Amino acid sequence: MKSFDTNGDFKENYKFLIGSILPRPIAVVSTLNEDGSNNVAPFSFFTAVSAKPMIVAFSPLIRSSTGEMKDTPRNIFREKEFVINFVSEGIVDKINATSAELPYGSDEFTHAGLTAIDSEKVKARRVKESLIHFECVYRDHLSYGDQPGQGQIITGEVVKVHISEELLDEGRISTEKFAPVGRGAGNDWILCDHRIQLERLMQAQIQK
Ligand SMILES: Cc1cc2nc3c(=O)[nH]c(=O)nc-3n(C[C@H](O)[C@H](O)[C@H](O)COP(=O)(O)O)c2cc1C
Repeated sequence: MKSFDTNGDFKENYKFLIGSILPRPIAVVSTLNEDGSNNVAPFSFFTAVSAKPMIVAFSPLIRSSTGEMKDTPRNIFREKEFVINFVSEGIVDKINATSAELPYGSDEFTHAGLTAIDSEKVKARRVKESLIHFECVYRDHLSYGDQPGQGQIITGEVVKVHISEELLDEGRISTEKFAPVGRGAGNDWILCDHRIQLERLMQAQIQK
């Protein structure tokens, strides 16, 4: 087995983080820039935290190319709001384009060819092409440093959910219709087009 301590170069740790934690869901986070233009970027260090209150968390790292905080957390700390948009197969190229490092204040919806639509409870806009949107109000923040590669957790309370009707089967989201896409290591993106079903074991079945 290859074994290593984690006190070396952050790039080595990062390589094995993204190669091990797979597939990763992707939050496409839209925020408002200071001048009111739209910022949007994907984050695959992303998870659900609580059902009620409905809380999600994601982690923007300090940008390794400049050593600066990314535009998304910068906007969230000022505006206290954001939207998480979800990725389906049909929009992967556009979502990838939103990860470009553009100068602060450039409208990233326009850059990626995405359409901005108003939200109901927050000022940050939603990605029309995305089939699920979570409107979020900033809750808390934990930082692990301000050097390249150092991360932080940002949590948001989801105050409004929008799900495209076409995804729903008897009130539940159909994974097949949603066609979500995850993130892999390197340049890999992962399609969810092959699934297996396992029955959830109850205590009585385990004891048989
Ligand atoms: C699919 C995908 C997932 C990504 N996940 C993360 C992540 O979890 N954390 C992070 O800091 N950057 C992540 N990035 C890189 C950011 O999207 C990129 O740095 C972007 O420029 C940040 O934009 P912003 O400065 O507008 O916030 C990811 C990129 C892609 C394409």
